[in-house]
Amino acid sequence: MLFYSHVNEDNTVERNALLRQQPDTLVSITGSGERLLALLDAPSLRQVVAVDTNIEAQHLFALKLGALKTLSIPDYLAFIGHTALRPAHRRDQLPRIEPHLTDETRQYWSERRVLIERGVVNVGHFETYLARLRPLVRFLLGPHFDACFTKPVTEIAHFPHRRWNGLMRLFSQTWVYQLTGNLDKAFTASDCNSPLIAKALRQTLTQNACAESFMFHLIFRGQLQSMLNEQLPPSLQPLILERIQYRLRQNDLTIQFANEDICQYLQKYPSVAESVFLSLSDLLSFVPAEQLLNVLRDVKDQYRNANVQGIVRSFLRHDFTPDETEQFNRLATVEDVSNQERTRMYQAYHFSL
Ligand SMILES: C[S@@+](CC[C@H](N)C(=O)[O-])C[C@H]1O[C@@H](n2cnc3c(N)ncnc32)[C@H](O)[C@@H]1O
Repeated sequence: MLFYSHVNEDNTVERNALLRQQPDTLVSITGSGERLLALLDAPSLRQVVAVDTNIEAQHLFALKLGALKTLSIPDYLAFIGHTALRPAHRRDQLPRIEPHLTDETRQYWSERRVLIERGVVNVGHFETYLARLRPLVRFLLGPHFDACFTKPVTEIAHFPHRRWNGLMRLFSQTWVYQLTGNLDKAFTASDCNSPLIAKALRQTLTQNACAESFMFHLIFRGQLQSMLNEQLPPSLQPLILERIQYRLRQNDLTIQFANEDICQYLQKYPSVAESVFLSLSDLLSFVPAEQLLNVLRDVKDQYRNANVQGIVRSFLRHDFTPDETEQFNRLATVEDVSNQERTRMYQAYHFSL
């Protein structure tokens, strides 16, 4: 199953950190591919390793790269489903993209033309889960809610405060995600601190940041098309995509795919690079902090001569305890950069080993 297909993390956090470090190598969890795409125009980068245990995530990222290489930027954005396009037109683009795909990826997508027609950013489990709930959520919030995308909540006559608070109470319950068919353990594990979701959404509303929050658009509107260009996540900004496209067409970047556990990958393959950036997404949703620290310890030992930096997030579970924070600080120079995350949903840590 494809778990994520659209932007889910504020990839400007990784982008800013990577542009500062100027590494030659990027090792990254693939996920939807959007966080990775946002980094590919960094001039210092020479090689990229996209790692994911889920082969479907790899096929999605490979398709996005193939489409970006082939199509104009507006056509790319329409093909992936960020902007509108007739389903048949999306399907008709596939033969042009296919020569840039491996046999396996070509086969995968040729068997899933329906997903291509819907626009691939809309077909992940998270995105279809939101789409299923949205009519009910919108009905509950009523017609005055949408004004929060254009003006401060304090200036909205008849903002549905009681309904909003009721919805936020529901969003704070792990059983709600379990009962409504969310199959992602990042949301449904019994140790998830689900009130963090409602806290982030409440902050976004009260800080009048709805228009600039892609997560708010994704949840309540199901698309990011109405965002201002400069507020879009970098992986959807035409100027950045143009630079990435140029590099892809020049074959200026080596992009490898590793279909395996990133912890094992990092422990197995010591890098020969001088400077490496690790984009570890919300790996803490899937492995406990203690395991992550062990992996980073091994990386520090093995990559002794390299400058290794990275970003890791926690979402609803496995955030660092005070003791683990102390261990992390002994191992690396750590900066809590959660305040840069415009979704307000993740705790994000920059580390330098
Ligand atoms: C960490 S999140 C990434 C979601 C993120 N919001 C995105 O789309 O970029 C989920 C992804 O991580 C992958 N994943 C989870 N644990 C992993 C691990 N230990 N090694 C490699 N990939 C992993 C999952 O297969 C999934 O594609």
